[in-house]
Order: sequence, then C-alpha cells, then structure tokens
Amino acid sequence: MAETRPNTVRLQRLVRAYRESAALMAAVELGVFTKLARGADTEEALIAALGLVPPNGERIVVACIGLGLIERHGDRLRLAPDVERFLVEGDAAYAGPWMLFTKPDWNEWGRLADHLRRPGPPVVDNKSVAEMTVEEARRYHRATYSIGLGAGRLFARQVDLSAARLMIDIGGGSGAYCIGACRANPELRAVVLDLPPVVEVARGFIAEHGLSDRIDAVACDFNKDAFPGGADVAVMASNLPMYGREQIAAVVAKAFGALKPGGSFHLVGEALNADRTGSADAAMWGLAQTLNASTGIAHSVTECVGYLNAAGFEAVGVEPFVPGVLERIHGHRPS
Ligand SMILES: C[S@@+](CC[C@H](N)C(=O)[O-])C[C@H]1O[C@@H](n2cnc3c(N)ncnc32)[C@H](O)[C@@H]1O
Repeated sequence: MAETRPNTVRLQRLVRAYRESAALMAAVELGVFTKLARGADTEEALIAALGLVPPNGERIVVACIGLGLIERHGDRLRLAPDVERFLVEGDAAYAGPWMLFTKPDWNEWGRLADHLRRPGPPVVDNKSVAEMTVEEARRYHRATYSIGLGAGRLFARQVDLSAARLMIDIGGGSGAYCIGACRANPELRAVVLDLPPVVEVARGFIAEHGLSDRIDAVACDFNKDAFPGGADVAVMASNLPMYGREQIAAVVAKAFGALKPGGSFHLVGEALNADRTGSADAAMWGLAQTLNASTGIAHSVTECVGYLNAAGFEAVGVEPFVPGVLERIHGHRPS
C-alpha cells in the first residue's frame, strides 16, 4: 500500500486551535446557545437576538455552526447534544462557568515559550491558589462547582459509600464531592479540607444544599497541615497536576494515616496513560503549570499507583472516572 504523504492539515488545525477556544468562550459569554434554546432557532432570529453590529452576529453564529456546536436542520438551527445539555444557562447541568475557568490564563499562554525558558526552581506553593482572595475563590469555585456537582454525583454512583460514616475531601474546593456523597448516603458526614478563602466559599455551597450540619469545611494546606483522623473514605480530586511527584506522594501517605483500617482512598485526577502517550488533555494540564512556576506535572496512572503502593494501600486499581478526562486511582488501607 502506498504510504500516505504527510500534509499540514493537522498542524494547521493545532496551531490555530486558540481561535476555536475563543469562539466557544465568546459564544458562552454572549449567551448564543441559551438564546437559541429559548426560541431564536433560525440563523436570522439568532443573529437578531444577539443584537450585535453586523456582521458580527453572523460571524459568531457561522463559527458555532462550523465548529459543530450548532447544527443546521433545514431552515432551523439546533444545539449539538453536549451543548444542549451543558451550555444552556438556567438549566440544571449548566457548565458555562467551567468553560471560562482557564480564561484568566489566556494571555500567558501566548508567552508559553518565555515561561518555559524561565530560570529558577519551581515553587511548591502553587500561585494559582496560594494568594487567592475570597472573591477570587468565589469565581474559581463557581466554575468548579458547575462541573463538580455532576462529578460528585458520579462519584457517589461509582463508589459504594453505604457503610462509610466519615469522608474527607482533600482540596475539596466547593464541596461538590462531599455534597454528592452526603446527598446519596444519609448516614455519611464529610469534611472539606482546603485553603482558608476556599473554605469560606465552600460553606456557602454546602448551606445551599442544607447540609451544613453534616459537612464541615476546614482550613488545611494539604502540603503542610495534618488531616483529621478516623475517616472511612478519603478523596482527592482534580488537583493532581498542580503538584510534583514528591508532594503528591506525601499527600497520599498522609491520607493513608487519616483513614481507619479498611478505609478507602480515591485519587481522581487528570492522569497520563501507562505508556505516557496521552491523553493530550492530561498533558496540557501538566503543561499549564509552567505558567504558575509550580512543581506541577502530568502524572501517569502508573506513577499514581506507585504513590498508593508506597503509602501502604492494598488492592490498588485504576478506573476511568470521566473517560478521557479523569482517572480514579483507588486503594484500601489494610484492615
Ligand atoms: C480544580 S480544584 C478541585 C476542587 C474539587 N476537588 C473538585 O473536584 O471539585 C483544586 C482545589 O485544590 C485546592 N488546593 C490546591 N492546593 C492546595 C493545598 N496546598 N492545600 C489545600 N487545598 C489545595 C484548591 O484550592 C482547589 O480548591
């Protein structure tokens, strides 16, 4: 068979992918998908509903169609199924804030090579969260909550917590995992461990669910402070690439110490596959840490299994959590 000659198609798509990101973010900010869902379902109607100076409305609508976010069906426009489920404001699963979560990094990605060339050792205190004000924590966690609530529900479906009485959530953010777990398991109590401004924000989310009597939020820098003991379950979710191998191994060992014998630990993270060939998404989360000059990297599932084994966990395994996005590496403290 004739060898296919390489062309530049893939490279061109990659090198201009930032335009696609910008189009999606702008569409969320302008409420394009919400307006369509609420009735502006022809090209003319949607352009008019946006109220932009011509031809800007046409440009963003055509871009969304070109990206497959909006589909044409005859004269009508329809949202793609993922857009319909997650990007219509006011709907339960609305994840618009999560779509804009990394936007503050936008300008610095344009200077990535300069950041990569920066001399000097990485800093353990991750600057993306270390000096956060309560207001910044609120913006950050409005975004994590908009996607985390679904992840919390998924965790409670995937992991049998029926016999558990105390769960700790290390770097628990908005409390989404504790909220999901406690709603599904009436006997469960939980503690969100996070940095002081985040704890204040988490308490608000917990109160919204009427769970303040069962979920506590406690200030704790997981690299420096002790964890409360006697837990049946410990979770650490979506902060894996923020720290290097030494820090993650130390946190996993501390989680082991916080668990009762027989208790389980779940590291839910953006991890590379065993041969470190992907996912691209996990690799990008690691690369993003360059902007923070942090110790963070993309860890592989094999490395994560190694952290759990080294800490003393047994029956260590890996499950896809959100396939292609998050893995769940889990183990038990021996009984
Ligand atoms: C992307 S958020 C994930 C939040 C939550 N686990 C979830 O999945 O919804 C990362 C969280 O880790 C927390 N975090 C990062 N470094 C921390 C540290 N050294 N000590 C405590 N929390 C930390 C952040 O404040 C933030 O809440």
